[in-house]
Parts: sequence; structure tokens; C-alpha cells
Amino acid sequence: MMTSTTLDAPSAKPLLDWYDRHHRDLPWRVSPPMAARGIKADPYRVWLSEVMLQQTTVPAVKPYFANFLARWPTVHDLAEAPSEDVMAAWAGLGYYARARNLKKCAEAVAQDHDGVFPDTEDGLKSLPGIGDYTAAAVAAIAFNRRAAVMDGNVERVISRLYAIATPLPASKPLMKQKVALLTPSDRPGDFAQAMMDLGATICTPKRPACALCPFNGSCEALRLHDPEHFPVKAAKKDKPVRYGAAFAAVTADGELLLRRRIESGLLGGMTEIPTTGWTARLDGETSADAAPFPAAWEACGTVTHVFTHFELRLSIYRVAIPAQIQTDNGWWEPVTNLESQALPTVMKKAITTAIPLAFTHSKE
Ligand code: ADE
Repeated sequence: MMTSTTLDAPSAKPLLDWYDRHHRDLPWRVSPPMAARGIKADPYRVWLSEVMLQQTTVPAVKPYFANFLARWPTVHDLAEAPSEDVMAAWAGLGYYARARNLKKCAEAVAQDHDGVFPDTEDGLKSLPGIGDYTAAAVAAIAFNRRAAVMDGNVERVISRLYAIATPLPASKPLMKQKVALLTPSDRPGDFAQAMMDLGATICTPKRPACALCPFNGSCEALRLHDPEHFPVKAAKKDKPVRYGAAFAAVTADGELLLRRRIESGLLGGMTEIPTTGWTARLDGETSADAAPFPAAWEACGTVTHVFTHFELRLSIYRVAIPAQIQTDNGWWEPVTNLESQALPTVMKKAITTAIPLAFTHSKE
């Protein structure tokens, strides 16, 4: 390990050598041994995995990726799938606007590009829902373009390698410049994936394994004996807290009242149990007065869920009724069939609070 005060100039070579030996085998990945056997990356799989992996961990994504590929093996299949099916299959991954954009992007590729993904960053960026990150990742990993790929893992590695003192997010342009300079022209896709693997397995947020790191001869943060100090982050503002209530009505036949959220806005188009608008103050609409119909509603707990811009605290109410009641909108769904619904995580938590065994029904 580096102990003197002089550092080697950072270079991609030791990282790529490390990746050849220590890459993770992932279902969407063409690893170096696979590439040596002539296997080529499938842009559809690369794109799908990158969209899923934004804000979500590798273990969480794996079952979703397998399910999507089994149901929609090509971009044409996904383009032709009913939107409700895609939303339901996405439920639980979060950030539901991404699922809507995923479908729109598949339609654009299928209809406007004969099912062939554009092979440049700019071409990819012209597709719905593909931003800087996804365009760079797909260009590099699927098409071996020399694109600078930056995600949270890469930010951590690069901020340590260069001991970048500017706090995030102001440091992002500088980091991107550093990644661009370090990205090699011969294996840019492997380089991007190697940076991600290094960040996930060696250059971890806490207690990084610097002794095993291919950059330990060139890492400025290690020379300063303080890798965990990086990336420097701007002081966090507390998220505002919003309050609301949600209502689980169950019939004697085991049916739950569900509704569909309006298409626009947070969790647009997803399924929910009746709920208030989530802006109500605690002394207002979080009581059973906001229920979809008058009944002997029983308070059965609260659910907290953290969204990007606020924290939601939902009071949960339930009622058992003899039979279905006519309501303005919504439908009665057998509790045994909830797995097939496009229920976001916050709603799964709410329903589980009211009906503890709601998601233990298996159709197998
Ligand atoms: N996180 C985001 N994209 C990834 C990839 N292609 N491999 C591993 N981790 C990732």
C-alpha cells in the first residue's frame, strides 16, 4: 500500500486489471470472460438494468430484471405490453415516473428506430426518459463509447482519488471532468462498470478496503489518511413532514377497496387504498372524517415513508364491512390478488398495517 508522500498518476490500467479478476457477475452484464467468448452486450438489457438501478440496489433489482426479461424479452415486447402490466411489474422499485418513461422509451425505440437503440450518447439522449447518466452508461456499456459515467459509487471513488474538497453537488462538474480524463478509449464500458464495482465492494462509504484497492498507489484521500471524509457533502436540510390518512375497507368476502391515482404527479397512475391528499395538517384530515364512506373506522397504526422531497406520515384506518359498498370511483379487489396490482411501497406498507398477512398469498 502507498505510504510515502508521492503518488502515481491515476490510470485506468490497474482498475481494469482488478476488474478482470474481481468483477461481479450480474445478470445484465457481459463480463470479461464472456466477452472473450464473443458474447456481445444487448443494449435492451443494458438500458433496462441501468434504468432499474438508478436509486435502487443491485440485490433489489435482480428479481425485477429477471421478471421483466421473462415477460418482455425484447424492446418490441415491452413496447407492446399494456401500461398497467408494466406499472404493476415495476411496483416496489419506486420512482414510478421512470416506469412510465421506460414504456415510452421502448415505444420510441420500437416505432421510430426499428427496435434498434441509438449507439451514441446524443442519440440515446433524444429518447424519452434517458438523461445524462443513462445515455452515458448505455453508450459505454452497450456500445463501448468513451462516455464519462457518473453515479453515486463513481462519485465516491473519484472524490477520494483526487481528494475533492468542494462539497456535493457543486463538485459534480469537476468530478465528471476527472472521470472523463480517466476513461480509456479501449475498454470504456468495462472501465465504467469497474468503477461501479469498486465503489460497491472496496471503496465503500464506511471502512473502505484500501489495502485491496487497485488505486491505492494513486489515491490522494488515502495519502491524507482519511478516505471516509470524501465525498464532502453540503449540510443536509431536513425534509418537510407531511401528514395524511389511508383507509383499508375489507368485505366479509375478503375484498379490499382500491383506487387508481390520477395520472399526473406523485405515484401517478399507481394503485392505492383511499387516502387524503397528504398535505393535510395533523389536526385536520388525518382523522376518520376523511374516509371514503362513513363506517366504524378503527385506527390501526401509522406508516412513515420517505419520498425524495418530503417525509410522509400516514395514519391508517381499517373497517370490516359485510359486503361491497358503492363508491364514486375505485373497485373491490380480492386480498389474495394484491400482488398483481401496481401498488407502490408506501401503499404496501399501509395495507400491511391494516391487514398484516395481505402480501403472504402466493399464487404458485
Ligand atoms: N449500478 C448502476 N449500473 C450498474 C452496473 N452496470 N453494474 C453494476 N452496478 C451498477
